[in-house]
Amino acid sequence: MKRYVIKGNICYSRSSTQLCVAENSYVVCENGSCAGVYQTLPECYAAFPCYDYTDKLVIPGLTDLHVHAPQYPFRGLGMDLELIDWLNTHTFVEEAKYADMEYADQAYEIFADDLKNSATTRACIFATIHTQATSLLMEKLEQSGIKAYVGKVNMDRNSPAYLCEETPEQAAMDTEKWIAENSGYENIKPILTPRFIPVCSDELMQQLSNLQKKYHLPMQSHLSENLGEIEWVKKLCPDTSCYGAAYDKYGLFGNDCPTIMAHCVHSGPEEVKLMKEQNVFVAHCPESNANLSSGIAPVRTYLDLGIKTGLGSDIAAGSSLSIFKAMAMAIQCSKLRWRLTDQSLPPLKMEEAFYLATKGGGEFFGKVGSFEKGYEFDAVVIDDAIYRHPQPLSAKERLERLIYLAQDGCIVAKFAGGTKIFEREASIL
Ligand code: GUN
Ligand code: FE
Repeated sequence: MKRYVIKGNICYSRSSTQLCVAENSYVVCENGSCAGVYQTLPECYAAFPCYDYTDKLVIPGLTDLHVHAPQYPFRGLGMDLELIDWLNTHTFVEEAKYADMEYADQAYEIFADDLKNSATTRACIFATIHTQATSLLMEKLEQSGIKAYVGKVNMDRNSPAYLCEETPEQAAMDTEKWIAENSGYENIKPILTPRFIPVCSDELMQQLSNLQKKYHLPMQSHLSENLGEIEWVKKLCPDTSCYGAAYDKYGLFGNDCPTIMAHCVHSGPEEVKLMKEQNVFVAHCPESNANLSSGIAPVRTYLDLGIKTGLGSDIAAGSSLSIFKAMAMAIQCSKLRWRLTDQSLPPLKMEEAFYLATKGGGEFFGKVGSFEKGYEFDAVVIDDAIYRHPQPLSAKERLERLIYLAQDGCIVAKFAGGTKIFEREASIL
C-alpha cells in the first residue's frame, strides 16, 4: 500500500538556490506520489500509517546520472592514467570479463547490493557490450527496487578485438533483441548507450539512430571529457563543428531523444549552446574528472544557463558510489576552479550541490527528486546521531555536514516510487 506519512526533519530543493527545511514535520505519500510537506498533519491524512522518524533527516532519494556497473570491481585501482590509456589498460580488460556469466553474476550481485544500500534511488547505468550479462544486471536491479535506466554498451571500432562488436548490423540486431527482452520491467528500463564517438563507427551511429526513432528510447554517452579525446574526435569527424554535433548528426543529442552526456568538462560555446537548446542533461562527475586528470567542468556556467545538470559517480573513474561524496567533490572542485582558473565563476554552495544530486538529476526521470506536491515519492531517512556534537545543530546544518560525512550505515530507510526498499537500524558500515 503506497499511502503513508513520514515524520521527521524534511529537507528538499525547490530550485538550485531554494532549499526547504521543515523541522519536526510530515511528508505524505499517496499512491506513490508526494502529497505535500506539513508542519501539522491535515485531518485527511490522519488515518494513514505513520513512520515515526522524529529527530532523523528525511531527504529525497539521490540520483546517480552516470555509473558503469561492470567497473565496480576495480574502483579505487589504476588511477594513474588519463582517459584513453586508462580505458585500454584497465577498463576494457575488466569489461571483457562479462562475457563469462559466472563472473557477471558475482560482480553484478555485489554492485546491485551496494547500490541498494546507498542513498541512490535513481541511476543511469552503463553495462558492457554483452547482452546476456546486461540482462542479468537488469534482473538483479529490478529486484533491488531501485529505479534505473541500463544500457547495453555499443562499440565497434578503435577497441580491442576482445571487446568489439563484429559489425554495425550485428550490433544493431543484438541491441534490438536486448531491448525486446528487457522492456517489461517496472523499475528498470533500457537506454541506448553508444560508448563515445571514438569507438562508434558512422554506420553504428546510424543503426542506433534508427533504433532510437523506432523505440523512442533515451540515450546516454560521454562528451568532451579529456583534451586528447577531443582532438581524436576532431580527426575522426572532420566535418562536424564540435564533438556534440557528432551525436546530433544522428539525432542522438537531446530534443526528441532524451540525452545524458557525462562530463562536458571542455565543451566550447557552440556545444554548450546546442546542449541548452536541445535540453541535453549534463552528468557532472567531479571525482572522475579529478582522478583521470580530465579537468573541472564549469558547473556554475551550466546552472546559470539553465542547462539540465545532475551528478554522476562515474565508477570506476570515480571510486565511490556515494552521491554525497559527489556533492562534496562538486563543491570542492568548483572552489579550485574558481581560485585557479576562472574567478568569474563563483564556487557552488551546499544548496546547489544538494539540488544537483536530487531535483537536478532527478528531472531526467520526470517529476523526481523533490517533496513538492506531485513528485514521485523517493525518500531516504538518515540517522546522523553517530556524528556526535556538543550542541544541538539545526536540520540544515545537519544536512550540510552529511554532504561531507554521510556513510551508508546512517541510512535507516529508503523508498522509491512510494515502495519501501528497506528499513533498518543505523550501523557503522
Ligand atoms: N569514455 C568512454 N568510456 C568511458 C568510461 O568507461 N569511463 C569514462 N570516464 N569515460 C569514458
Ligand atoms: Fe563514464
